Amino acid sequence: MKTKLFYVVMGLALGLNPLKAQQTPAYLDDTQPIEVRIKDALSRMTLEEKVKLCTAQSKFSSHGVPRLGIPEIWMSDGPHGVREEILWDSWGNAEWTNDSCTAFPALTCLAATWNPQMSAIYGKAVGEEARYRRKDILLGPGVNIYRTPLNGRNFEYMGEDPFLSSTMVVPYIKGVQSNGVATCVKHYALNNQEAWRGHIDVELSDRALNEIYLPAFKAAIVEGGSWSIMGSYNKVRGEHACHNDLLLNKILKGEWKFDGCVVTDWGGAHDTKEAALNGLDIEMGSYTNGLSSGKNFAYDNYYLASDYLKGIKDGTYPLSGLEDKATRILRLIFRTAMNSKRPWGSFTTEAHYDVARTVAEEGIVLLKNEAYKKKGTILPLDGNKYRTILVVGENATRRLTEGGGSSVLKVKKEVSPLTGLQTKFGDKIKYTLGYASGSAAYDSENEATYNTDSLHAEAVKQAADADLIVFVGGLNKNHFQDSEGADRKSMALPFGQSELINDLLKVNKNIVVVLLSGNAVEMPWVKNIPSILQAWYLGSESGNAIANVLTGEVNPSGKLPFSFPVKLADNAAHSFGTISYPGDSIKEIYKEDILVGYRWHDTKKIPALFPFGHGLSYTQFKYGKAATDKNNLSGAEEITVSVPVKNIGSVKGKEVIQLYVGEEKCSVLRPLKELKSFQKIELAPGEEQTVSFKIGVGALKFYSETAHDWVSEPGRFKLYIGSSSTDIRSTVSFILN
Ligand code: GLC
Repeated sequence: MKTKLFYVVMGLALGLNPLKAQQTPAYLDDTQPIEVRIKDALSRMTLEEKVKLCTAQSKFSSHGVPRLGIPEIWMSDGPHGVREEILWDSWGNAEWTNDSCTAFPALTCLAATWNPQMSAIYGKAVGEEARYRRKDILLGPGVNIYRTPLNGRNFEYMGEDPFLSSTMVVPYIKGVQSNGVATCVKHYALNNQEAWRGHIDVELSDRALNEIYLPAFKAAIVEGGSWSIMGSYNKVRGEHACHNDLLLNKILKGEWKFDGCVVTDWGGAHDTKEAALNGLDIEMGSYTNGLSSGKNFAYDNYYLASDYLKGIKDGTYPLSGLEDKATRILRLIFRTAMNSKRPWGSFTTEAHYDVARTVAEEGIVLLKNEAYKKKGTILPLDGNKYRTILVVGENATRRLTEGGGSSVLKVKKEVSPLTGLQTKFGDKIKYTLGYASGSAAYDSENEATYNTDSLHAEAVKQAADADLIVFVGGLNKNHFQDSEGADRKSMALPFGQSELINDLLKVNKNIVVVLLSGNAVEMPWVKNIPSILQAWYLGSESGNAIANVLTGEVNPSGKLPFSFPVKLADNAAHSFGTISYPGDSIKEIYKEDILVGYRWHDTKKIPALFPFGHGLSYTQFKYGKAATDKNNLSGAEEITVSVPVKNIGSVKGKEVIQLYVGEEKCSVLRPLKELKSFQKIELAPGEEQTVSFKIGVGALKFYSETAHDWVSEPGRFKLYIGSSSTDIRSTVSFILN
């Protein structure tokens, strides 16, 4: 009988290490560095298994390696909440009963807080919900720049300024990824409209590309460390963004040294050769329109499926390209699905509702609050002053987490503005619909249909007897409103709202207008309305946040992340004919170049209705004189500019002190001034704080199209310290040697 020793000796002689037999393979061993695990996994995988990693197997999952126990990657929308489960191979909802989520505010609201701490708590919370729902990639955040007020998806993004978007996106990404869930920053790049989004070919200067449209993506990758990024549907300089040599190979993976995965937008891949060679890693949603329709079970025909495998085998495509794709995908898997140290997440907790409400409260912008009839300002609302408060408008009751495209959410809770106000004021509150977003609105609860004239007349009738009117309107998530897949057709408030507001004013001037939207709207009635609030799509806690701000329980501190032009023609993209927007259906040229948003309004001296960075408070802030620690700056030095700020009002409040920089003379056109820093501080009544900013030469540079790099030119620079991009409280200048 052969002893155990005999077998051990024999085993050793055959090179079988008995310890190894018990030892976990490196790719399965969490204690091993990820790069070791990747190499080990690749050494065990077949060619077919590596190619399989690069494509979807269903609507929202991509292949794993079943034979090796390497799991699939599960993805879900979206940027402000985890979308309900979608069916395997259709856009239909799976009708699960455990996936009603917390709706956090849309990202325009997050940007409007101008408070990076809000991004940090937001990212962590939405990441906990994605983790709990067992998702490995959360398909967001979106950071496309707000170029036109008509873009249907602006509500998903962070506004018109690259510095604000860059600053606000980084903590969000870190917060989500702290849960072991990857973000997928999108849509890279130049997807600044929905019109012809699937193919429009964007042309623009290198300066506009580098100074305006890339910075937020660069920050998301280089500072935020996003583990994945989503290519956009459109073309850039002739190549689809999802397999674009300039954007993906040269800039993203070359200059920015991105080590994660490039994922297509759903249906964004169009060519095997380009997909093989131009930096794409995971192909999703091919043969769908990314929204509602698609070819069934087309997965084997994907560009990176059998055609790609054939091309690898016959040498058309280099094996090194496949190795790189598989390496990146495995790295994402080891950071997420195979990371046993990641936390477990949580779902629809009170803590998450608190985050949603806090962000909403900090993001609401008080646009106007002027004294009315020498009775002082209407806001903050003092309930004791009114017998009846009439709430008018469909957005006071409409569910705004529904619709809008892929960022749609099925929620456990959505507190409406009407409910929020009823909670505060009980039966003082009366309500009438006022306007409806369908031509003949159908009220499913009361099985009634209305015609808009009767709604309009009823609201005016009731307004005559009310002490105060709170009009809650704006846009909604309907097609051609704030929604994916199409742009708005005009900047006007839809559904007869402005006409209604004007008719309400004829019978009662005591009106507060609350706008819920993700885009700027025209306000022909603006001079006659004493108080206006810009409240975004605020999610589950919407009504509570709005009521808390209206009553002054929370002092508003939001600032606009994009300009509100008086009219569409005042916007830069709409100043150069259709080739500039929406394009000629094939090509579009960003003719305004770097002059986007306030850069346009400032430089062309076209006043905005409400400017970038604008937002009032229930208190007032007095700024002292700005001073610098030096008058000359050279080389690697920094200049410090300080300014005292004092709360001279009667309530505690937060203020965003904004620092803009402008070069007085330069060899190239530069905007009058550009946002280069900001700080949000809270001051008690009477409290004063000196706020300081450090500015280095980096903040003074522009992108040179001759040097193909960022350069600075010596000369005089001006520092503008302000409470908005036009409310400049102090300036100071210095010389760059
Ligand atoms: C959509 C959107 C994208 C979304 C994806 C999956 O078309 O453009 O933002 O994440 O498809 O729904």
